[in-house]
Amino acid sequence: MKIQFTETVLRDANQSLIATRLPFSKFEPILGELDKAGYYSLECWGGATFDSCLRYLDEDPWERLRKIRKACPNTKLQMLLRGQNLLGYKHYPDDVVRKFVAKSVENGMDIIRIFDALNDMRNIEVAVDETIKRGAIASGAICFTISPIHNLESYVKVGKQMRDMGVATITIKDMAGIMGPAEAYDLVKALKEEVKLPVVVHTHCTTGLGTATLLKAAEAGADVIDTAISSFSGGTSQPPTETMAYMLRQAGFEVGLDTNVLKTINDFFKPIQAEYLKSGQLNPVVMGTDSDALVYQVPGGMLSNLVAQLTAQNRMDKFQEVLEETPRVREDLGYPPLVTPMSQMVGVQATANVLAGERYKTVSKEIKAYLRGEYGQAPGKINEEVRKKILGDEPVFTGRYADTLEPGFEKAKAEIGAKARSEEDVLSYIAFPAQAEAFFDRREAREKNTYSYAFKQV
Ligand code: CO
Repeated sequence: MKIQFTETVLRDANQSLIATRLPFSKFEPILGELDKAGYYSLECWGGATFDSCLRYLDEDPWERLRKIRKACPNTKLQMLLRGQNLLGYKHYPDDVVRKFVAKSVENGMDIIRIFDALNDMRNIEVAVDETIKRGAIASGAICFTISPIHNLESYVKVGKQMRDMGVATITIKDMAGIMGPAEAYDLVKALKEEVKLPVVVHTHCTTGLGTATLLKAAEAGADVIDTAISSFSGGTSQPPTETMAYMLRQAGFEVGLDTNVLKTINDFFKPIQAEYLKSGQLNPVVMGTDSDALVYQVPGGMLSNLVAQLTAQNRMDKFQEVLEETPRVREDLGYPPLVTPMSQMVGVQATANVLAGERYKTVSKEIKAYLRGEYGQAPGKINEEVRKKILGDEPVFTGRYADTLEPGFEKAKAEIGAKARSEEDVLSYIAFPAQAEAFFDRREAREKNTYSYAFKQV
């Protein structure tokens, strides 16, 4: 039996523990070792890395990708892409999605893991298609959630739809760390048997289930697991690479990782961990275990948002009521997986319902857009009474939302003009307009030597 590893230290671990604040210069010296460790892939881009580069780190994300590519010629590079939303939450037109995927591959990406928050396949099909056309590996990611309508059968159905689109692998994406070992075992087995594609498992240690979940996933036949080098593992991050390698070797798996190289990598990241702890950017709380999510079936991040909202309004006395209202709102909305942005939208609505003393008296524009069908197809049935109360007789959109959008690349290119020096720049501008434009201005000023380096490097 063979098991392979995807190392997440440069992306998800970095994002989950320190809000993606690792600048390239910080991890540059270890790229050569990361390339030698024997990983299946290095997750290093996408998710929040792109935004963070432009907004906080004064880095060109595309240049970061090219530099990683150059330093890691032997290991596959991987990114996370939110289907039609790319790296954000709004839908982009198809020409933009295709261009973004094409440029990602051209700049060095090997594997693009593509998901949609609602598991609506219409929202990933264009990104998957372009990934395959460009010769990269498309992995279809299923958002794992727990609800009365999500079960093995429904996940297998999604897996088969992804297979029919031509994805090379299926990823189980447990963004909240709520998938237990038994669930992982059954799900991996079902997907392997019925979809017959390699299965990758992604989880988080938030609730403490992570290592056991990956072990059982491996026993069920998972081909790849996501882990983080130990000093950047645990808590809201992934299970530790070295520990999983040790555990799986003991269980009789062939683990293609070099233990000595892993030690070198971890020795490199240890002082960085210490530094971020000292600066306060790494909060020890996120490294611990929070089992509340198992009690409430609500992701940890969502719970802390609820507490923050209620504390800000001095209404923590309503916490229990809001917690009870949350699953009811979710049910009304057809059981969307509680992943960003749905988790925030559901949480805010549950709070509003309780504090107003009347359900759906005030409703956010996001919830309205969701009910209009603009996010895609809800996994389950939407409560029609609720929809009627909120939208009245407004028609509901049942098509693929991106079909309603005009092409966007050329328009954006004209808009940003000479500040964008490449098509990559135009894509940065499309993804994060204000941040990208500010970055272009700083770049210009820096080159003219008129720019005082205002960004604090950490
Ligand atoms: Co994750």
